[in-house]
Formats: sequence, C-alpha cells, structure tokens
Amino acid sequence: VEFICICFLGSVSFLCLLCTEYPVFTPSALVVKYGDPANVACDVCQKDCSGDASGLEHGVGKVTKNGTTMFWTVDRLTDWDIRLLCFYTSNQCTSTLNPTLYRKYLPESVSISFVNHTEMMFENQQYTLQCSVQNVAPVQSLTVTFYRGNTALDHLQSRSEQKKPVNETFTLNITPSREDDGAQYWCETKLELGPAGPQRPPVVISEKLPAIVHYGPELKEPPNPDVITITEGDTLHLNCSSVGNPSPSYNWTRPKNSSSSYTGSVLTITSVGFEHKGQYICTVSNTVGTVTKEFNVDVQGECCQILPGK
Ligand SMILES: *[C@@H]1O[C@H](CO)[C@@H](O)[C@H](O)[C@H]1NC(C)=O
Ligand SMILES: *[C@@H]1O[C@H](CO)[C@@H](O)[C@H](O)[C@H]1NC(C)=O
Ligand SMILES: *[C@@H]1O[C@H](CO)[C@@H](O)[C@H](O)[C@H]1NC(C)=O
Ligand SMILES: *[C@@H]1O[C@H](CO)[C@@H](O)[C@H](O)[C@H]1NC(C)=O
Ligand SMILES: *[C@@H]1O[C@H](CO)[C@@H](O)[C@H](O)[C@H]1NC(C)=O
Ligand SMILES: *[C@@H]1O[C@H](CO)[C@@H](O)[C@H](O)[C@H]1NC(C)=O
Repeated sequence: VEFICICFLGSVSFLCLLCTEYPVFTPSALVVKYGDPANVACDVCQKDCSGDASGLEHGVGKVTKNGTTMFWTVDRLTDWDIRLLCFYTSNQCTSTLNPTLYRKYLPESVSISFVNHTEMMFENQQYTLQCSVQNVAPVQSLTVTFYRGNTALDHLQSRSEQKKPVNETFTLNITPSREDDGAQYWCETKLELGPAGPQRPPVVISEKLPAIVHYGPELKEPPNPDVITITEGDTLHLNCSSVGNPSPSYNWTRPKNSSSSYTGSVLTITSVGFEHKGQYICTVSNTVGTVTKEFNVDVQGECCQILPGK
C-alpha cells in the first residue's frame, strides 16, 4: 500500500510522512529469459533503520531476510506480469521493480509480404509491405527495420504495452521506381532489452521478397540530330535500344521503297543507296507503354563531298 501525501500551502497544513529513503533493489533492473531462474536483493534502509516492519511482496518465488536486506529468488520465472514491491513501514517508503521477461527464440517467426498479395508492381504506384512478427515478448522492446537490399527504409516500434507474447504486423508504404526492379525487400527485428539484457540483442530476419517492377520502355540512346546525313555505300546504324519491364518489342516503319518489316532494336543497312533516304520510325512497346523514335536519313553521293564550291 502506497502512502499518498497532499500538502496545501497557506491555510491548511497536514502532517506529512515524506519518504526520505527508498528501499534499493540490487540489481536495479532485471531482464530475465522466460523460464530462467532470477534473484534480486532489496535493502530497505541504510541510514534510519529504527523500525523493523519491512516486506517484499512477490507473486512467485521465495523471500529470505537478513537484517534489513531481503533476498527474492525464483527457480523458473514464467510470470509475464511479475512485479516486486519492497517496503519499509516505519517511514512509508516503497519501491517497485518490474522485471522484463523475454523469450529465448523470439520472435518465433518473422515474415514479409505485400498486403493483398501483389505479385506484380508498377512504377510510381503505392504498395504496402508488411512484416509479420509472431510470438514476441516484450513487443515494446522490439524494433522492426524494413530494408530494400542493404538500404534501411524505416524503423518501426510497437505502441503496445503488452508484456505477454503477441503477434504483431508492421507495415510500410512504398512507391517503387524502375531502379527497384529486381531489388529485394526484407525486414529485421531486434529485441533491445537495455543494459540489463543480453549483450547481443536477439535478432530475427525475414526471408527476402523480390520486387518485380513493371515500367514502360525507355530509349537508351539520346535523340538524333534532325537529319542523319550518310554517304552512298556506307553502313547505316539506327539504334533504338530501349529498356523496359517486360522487355519491349520493336517495330520499324521504313521509307516506302525499302524492303520488309524489321523487329530488331538496331536497324543496320550495310551499303546505303538513294532508295534508303527518308523517314524511319521505331515503335517500342511493352504491356505498360509505347515510345517512338524518328530518324530522318539523307543520302549523299560521293561527288558532293569531293567537289565543294563547284
Ligand atoms: C547476514 O548478514 C551478515 C552481515 O552481512 C552476515 O555476516 C551473515 O552471515 C548473514 N546471515 C545469513 C544467514 O546470511
Ligand atoms: C486489400 O484488399 C481489400 C479487399 O479487396 C481492400 O478492402 C483493402 O483496402 C486492400 N488493402 C490495401 C492496403 O490495398
Ligand atoms: C500467433 O500466431 C500463431 C500462428 O498463427 C498462433 O498459433 C498463436 O496463437 C498466435 N499468438 C497470439 C498471442 O495471438
Ligand atoms: C545501341 O545502343 C546501345 C545502348 O546505348 C548500345 O549498348 C549498343 O551497343 C548500340 N548498338 C549499336 C550497334 O551501335
Ligand atoms: C508494325 O507496325 C505496322 C504499322 O503500324 C503494323 O501494321 C504491324 O502489324 C506491326 N508489326 C508488329 C510485329 O507489331
Ligand atoms: C520509290 O520507287 C519509285 C519507283 O521505283 C520511284 O519513282 C520513287 O521516287 C521512289 N521513292 C522514294 C522515296 O525513293
């Protein structure tokens, strides 16, 4: 039972028994693996030890006393809500200790997925990643980090104060770009139990979730000059190489007199003739979109280069 003292300044005065010396727990914090033994000592007084009514309230375990020191021990601590209360009635002083329990292999499992099982993603649209953590205790001490490859995207923590093992799902919104195609998403959970906890915080990571980001074709080569001038008999390369997911297909429209249709990314004419003059249009498309590139080709005879100004 805690003693509450309210003092009003001025008109009314109360007799207040103010606690001057609180009982001291050693160690001051207790972090225990579920099922492990635990012990703690409580010194009720150091200076004014005139009284002798002291106690240590405990749900489990046993208490032994030696003078003003009490020792609490338990062989196997399995009570998630354990709370120890050490008191000294002669001066109304009470201290409490809330040991933290954690599970050995916790969380038991961590998995990552997309909300609504999105297998396929499109560039610049928003998706939700979820990291599901099972049987974690205490969830308050858990930090969840989402990663894309080696890049940490965000750190999340639970708002729950539940001490018993819980299942919890953490979510992160992402808007993938084409550079993220093929990247792997995963999440890491770390139980940070402070200096009284294990030296190496327990870490559990999820499997890796590959991202497939679909995006429309993008030309790899810069645009052309307005007119490509080439000398008769030379080799002409029209480069329309593009990237896209899925891989784009190509379709060329050529000047009327040229031969059949072509579906490669680079159109090559080994010996250019005057009939190759004109406009070429490359159409690149995939399921997401289409882009086109124009080439205007002018063919000059050899005469024109060797006879300037005549
Ligand atoms: C009690 O504490 C005193 C002083 O620290 C010590 O000498 C003594 O052995 C203790 N008694 C028991 C039963 O632990
Ligand atoms: C998931 O799908 C359900 C039903 O189709 C929908 O109500 C919900 O908003 C979706 N959630 C997200 C995050 O897209
Ligand atoms: C967590 O999920 C697992 C598997 O679905 C289930 O067996 C377990 O009872 C759940 N735990 C809690 C605390 O809800
Ligand atoms: C076409 O352009 C791509 C991308 O710049 C390049 O990798 C490829 O070598 C080029 N092909 C030719 C035949 O010039
Ligand atoms: C290429 O484009 C032409 C003209 O737009 C069209 O008639 C033809 O079917 C296309 N070929 C392919 C393989 O897409
Ligand atoms: C196409 O061929 C015809 C006859 O062979 C010719 O008269 C015409 O000028 C040619 N057109 C182009 C653009 O080369």
